[in-house]
Amino acid sequence: MTCSGSKFSSHITFLQVMEQLVASWYNGRSLPETYVLPLEIRPGKLNVPVSTNIIPVVDLGGHDETAIIQQILEASQEFGFFQVINHGVPSNLMDEAMNVCKEFHAMSAKDKAIQCSNDLNKNCFLYTSSQRYATEKYHFWRDSLTHFCHPLEKQIQFWPEKPTRYRNVVSKYTTEVSKLGSTILELISKGLGVSPEHFSNGLTENPKMIVNHYPPCPDPTLTLGVPKHRDPVLINILLQEDDLYGLQVFKDEEWIDVEPIPHAFVVNIGYVLQIISNGKLKGAEHRVVTNSNSARTSASFFVNPSDETLIEPAKVLVNTSSPALYRSLPYKDFHSKFLVTSDWKELEKFVRTTSA
Ligand code: OGA
Ligand code: NI
Repeated sequence: MTCSGSKFSSHITFLQVMEQLVASWYNGRSLPETYVLPLEIRPGKLNVPVSTNIIPVVDLGGHDETAIIQQILEASQEFGFFQVINHGVPSNLMDEAMNVCKEFHAMSAKDKAIQCSNDLNKNCFLYTSSQRYATEKYHFWRDSLTHFCHPLEKQIQFWPEKPTRYRNVVSKYTTEVSKLGSTILELISKGLGVSPEHFSNGLTENPKMIVNHYPPCPDPTLTLGVPKHRDPVLINILLQEDDLYGLQVFKDEEWIDVEPIPHAFVVNIGYVLQIISNGKLKGAEHRVVTNSNSARTSASFFVNPSDETLIEPAKVLVNTSSPALYRSLPYKDFHSKFLVTSDWKELEKFVRTTSA
């Protein structure tokens, strides 16, 4: 291997990530200090039903489109979250995708790192905690693989080659989930009164898959897999395991569990759609708690704009009685700011119009 500057620095990163992955060192250890969160964001006592509030489940197989649109809009306004059933993605493909995601995270740290190190442009990479590991005050209990999905012919070369079925299964999976994403956005566009074409170009051009893995945690009361956040995307379509809780939604000052429903997808509104809808839909705040018995794996499919695409409130939703709450900016500016700040208020200030 040559020791050019970029290769050398990527080599360092490669070794560091390998050692930092939670899955590579957690076994038998108590929770390190660096994972103990400040009291205000610790989950504290778990295993008590936190709320009787239930995330709505929408049956996409029904024939009454108006009713489906209404259910989606209501859930998106009230919770920023809903689940979908009869969504058209084959159950066996969902099972295969989950299995291959689990197999990826079950590989040795070295294998995982090798599989994700061949692209210096980071079309595919592995990280642990948040994407700010080097600068964050404390860490989170999660390892993630992330890669882009579109165009498939270009992106697939960067995806892991091990497990050997990964590319085959995940390409079929992302193709199907992408179609589901278009269907959901079309229903949302009808509900908002925005042209369906609004979402068919740059705004949805760069979908991204994030394969999250939360190893069994020595003390789930003290730490989190992912802290309270909003997704920096239009929508996220999440595949979670059948029988493991972990995802929680923040609503009316309380945390609501998202119940795992076999072969349903969890859909949530991201902050970019909040901007496009001029605040009509809510980019929901959520977090992930860990558990001490089992590892949990999930796969996020982020419906994402391309870097240069302008994100701004849809023109038809802006008028004198409803002025633009957000300014217009290229997605890459928004996303770069998202990556460097963990303070939501700061990000909000960055995207709001000064008059708001
Ligand atoms: C995310 C996320 C939830 C989960 O990837 O942004 O919130 O259950 N994931 O892993
Ligand atoms: Ni999220």
